[in-house]
Amino acid sequence: MTAIIIDGKRIAEEKKQQVYDEVLRLQARGVTPGLAVILVGEDPASQIYVRNKERACARCGIYSEKYALPADTGEDELLELIARLNADRRISGILCQLPLPKHIDAGKVICAIAPEKDVDAFHPVNVGRIMTGDVLFAPCTPAGVMTLLDEYGIEIAGKSCVVVGRSNIVGKPMAMLLLHRHGTVTICHSRTPDLAAVTRGADILVAAVGKAKMITADMIKPGAAVIDVGMNRDSCGKLCGDVDFDAAAERAGYITPVPGGVGVMTITTLMQNTLLAAKLQNGLA
Ligand code: GUN
Repeated sequence: MTAIIIDGKRIAEEKKQQVYDEVLRLQARGVTPGLAVILVGEDPASQIYVRNKERACARCGIYSEKYALPADTGEDELLELIARLNADRRISGILCQLPLPKHIDAGKVICAIAPEKDVDAFHPVNVGRIMTGDVLFAPCTPAGVMTLLDEYGIEIAGKSCVVVGRSNIVGKPMAMLLLHRHGTVTICHSRTPDLAAVTRGADILVAAVGKAKMITADMIKPGAAVIDVGMNRDSCGKLCGDVDFDAAAERAGYITPVPGGVGVMTITTLMQNTLLAAKLQNGLA
């Protein structure tokens, strides 16, 4: 069996075009969505993510401001910047790229962002809404995964869904979104004793661990939908996911590539959330 390759790039492009079309309609009513992106320090991966976010804003007609701050920026200084952006009417959404340097309390920073501008959906108010199902801003990566599943007509209700990884950014909110759609959800992590025994039961398997090629073909149920959230470098320095793609594609029914799968969808959700934030703040949602 050879899996259908889920084309995240194509779907992301379609969704960004939809955002752009809607931004044009909003602009005709005098509203331009704006996103402020804050980067502290010089982490190379974060620099790439931030650049991609700026490009996506340009593609969608969204105004963007980038704040690249030195690694030794004080927590107070960062909190002051956020307070200023919270009060700035041109800014609909604020995103502070994680991870932050160790001397800054990331929890404090996340809580400082006004919930109505928290387009990452990391603020406890928005996390709570994801938990109850009354979602305002969709968690970017998990919502991108849901879009891919829906676009390919992959059924969730009643299916066995296994999420490997329990991060606040991906694993936990991913499990919630699948649960709200009536999946039977299991979360696995580094202390799960027999991971393969669990993953082999998955109709939908989401890998969000951050370990190159750790999901091997023998861990996959034949015909399963395999969603790879990983973004790693293999031993040759080549970008790869958490799934051993070539072998897994021989067993899975659907599989996402890295790159060109989930990653592009994360940024697309961010654009959708920024548009929604602008609409809400202007009484147009
Ligand atoms: N670091 C890794 N992923 C993300 C994300 O989705 N948002 C932010 N702000 N930082 C990240």
